[in-house]
Amino acid sequence: MMNEKMITIGVLTSGGDAPGMNAAVRAVVRTGITRGHRMVGIRRGYEGLLNGEVEEMKLRSVSEIIQRGGTVLYTARCEEFKTEEGLKKGVEMCHKLGIDGLVIIGGDGSFKGARNLSNAGIPCIGLPGTIDNDIASTEYTIGFDTAVNTVVESVDRLRDTSQSHDRCSVVEVMGRRAGHIAIYAGISCGAIATLIPERPYDLDRDVIARMRATLKTGKHHFIVIVAEGVGNTQEICSYIQEKTGIESRLTVLGHVQRGGTPTAQERVHASVMGFRAVELLEQGKGNRVVGIQNNRIVDYDINEALDMVKDIDEYLYKVAYEISI
Ligand code: ADP
Ligand code: F6P
Repeated sequence: MMNEKMITIGVLTSGGDAPGMNAAVRAVVRTGITRGHRMVGIRRGYEGLLNGEVEEMKLRSVSEIIQRGGTVLYTARCEEFKTEEGLKKGVEMCHKLGIDGLVIIGGDGSFKGARNLSNAGIPCIGLPGTIDNDIASTEYTIGFDTAVNTVVESVDRLRDTSQSHDRCSVVEVMGRRAGHIAIYAGISCGAIATLIPERPYDLDRDVIARMRATLKTGKHHFIVIVAEGVGNTQEICSYIQEKTGIESRLTVLGHVQRGGTPTAQERVHASVMGFRAVELLEQGKGNRVVGIQNNRIVDYDINEALDMVKDIDEYLYKVAYEISI
C-alpha cells in the first residue's frame, strides 16, 4: 500500500542489545518501503546519530536478519545525548539528514532520549527492546522470550550434572533490578527456590528448609535460581553448602543470555511492533511507545509510559514458590 505523503523514517537500536531487535528493524524498514517512504538506518544508537552514522535502507538491506540475534545496526550507550548540547546536535543532525521521524528500539533510558527528541520537534516512536522485561507499559519486551529459553536450555544442562553428582546448582540470571527472567526460569526449570529483588526472602526458610524437606522425599539434586539484582550469589551458594552439606556450585550465565536466535514469539511480536511504529509515524503521531497488553498491540504517550510502574506477576511468583518442592 503506497502512502501519498512520502516521509523519511530513521531507525536505531539503543542500550543493551536483545534477540529480536533485528526482526523489529526489518519490520520497520519493510513496512516503510512498502508504503513508499524513505528509510534510513542509524548505527550505534544515539552516539551514531550525533556522528551522522547513517545508511540508506533498501528492501534487501534487511534480508537474512530475522533469525539473527544482536542488532545489525549495532548499539551503544551515549552520555552526550543526555545533555542539552547533545540533544541539540541530535535534532540538527535529523534536520540535516531530512529525517521526519524516528523509531527507537531500546529500554526506558532510550525512551527518555526519544521523549526529549520528540519534545524538540522530531517525532519518535519507542519499541521496547530488552531481555529484562522491565518496561511497565508492556507485558512483553523484545528479547525476553529468547533469553528465558536460553536460560532454560542452560539449566537443563546443569541439571544433568547436578543430578549425577547429587549437587545443588545455584544459577544467577540477568534482569538488572528485575526478577522476570528469574521467575519464568524458576517455573520452567523446576527450581527449588527462586530469589528475586522485588520480594524479601529468608534463606533458612525459603531455601534450606525446603531442600531438607525435599531430601526426605528422596530427591538429592537441586536448582536454585537467583536474579542478579539480589546480589551476593556466591555467598548464597556457600551458605547452602554449609547448611545442607550438599555440594553447591554457582553458575553465572551472564551475556550468553543476550545472544542467540530469536524465538518465533519474539519474531512475531517484534514484527508487529515494528509495523505499528511506522503506522503511527504515518499518522503524524510521535512521542509514543508501542507495547503488548493482553496479547494486543497498544501504544501510549511516552511520558505516561515512563511514569508507569511494573511489578512482578504475583500469581506466577506464587506458582513458582508453591510447586517447587
Ligand atoms: P536502556 O535503553 O536499555 O534503558 P540505557 O539506560 O543505557 O539503556 O539508555 C540508553 C541510552 O539512552 C543512553 O546511553 C543515552 O544515550 C540515552 N538516555 C538514557 N537516559 C536518558 C535521559 N535521561 N535523557 C536522554 N537520553 C537518555
Ligand atoms: O539490560 C540488559 C542487561 O543484560 C541486564 O540484564 C544486565 O544487568 C545488563 O544489561 C548488563 O549490561 P552490560 O551489557 O553493559 O554488561
